[in-house]
Amino acid sequence: MIRSLSSLSKCEQGLVFASVLAGVQNNPHFPWTTESLQQQVVVDEGLFWEIGGEAAGFVIWRNLGDEGEILTLASALKARRMGYMEKLIRGLFDANSQVCRWWIEVHELNLGALNLYTKMGFQKVSERRGYYSDGASALILRKTITP
Ligand SMILES: CC(C)(COP(=O)(O)OP(=O)(O)OC[C@H]1O[C@@H](n2cnc3c(N)ncnc32)[C@H](O)[C@@H]1OP(=O)(O)O)[C@@H](O)C(=O)NCCC(=O)NCCS
Repeated sequence: MIRSLSSLSKCEQGLVFASVLAGVQNNPHFPWTTESLQQQVVVDEGLFWEIGGEAAGFVIWRNLGDEGEILTLASALKARRMGYMEKLIRGLFDANSQVCRWWIEVHELNLGALNLYTKMGFQKVSERRGYYSDGASALILRKTITP
């Protein structure tokens, strides 16, 4: 079941992030913590999904009218490669149908995420060299929604 993060209390949001991030932290490709994610959803929008009542993944984005930016997303280790994140991103596109250009930034060595975004139709448009603390570059990807 897909649900909105903003329908939850701050404490419940913390439980969602902690559940998904168990085993994901200390990942150089994913510098987010439960606390930084809780702060992000004060201003930005988010969706998450549950399997058997347990949070298994989330996506947080910013809607700027006709442009949108996916700020971060993650799936729980045990929920990966089941197609749920793909489904969640499609839900995000459908729920923000006025957005005609989506943007996302990704660590150049995060091959799982890069494959996911490529599969969803994102293409590289530029790069921030040495953006991450490990010296890696951030790739800037864009997807144009065609009616
Ligand atoms: C990237 C991530 C969100 C993918 O989540 P997921 O639930 O496994 O994604 P899905 O099952 O919907 O996969 C959809 C497609 O993405 C690609 N993909 C996902 N994980 C992959 C991996 N480890 N290696 C290669 N391709 C991968 C594949 O094309 C896959 O389609 P396929 O299974 O038919 O080949 C997940 O690995 C994750 O949470 N990583 C840690 C957090 C992170 O890096 N977030 C991105 C920050 S920008």
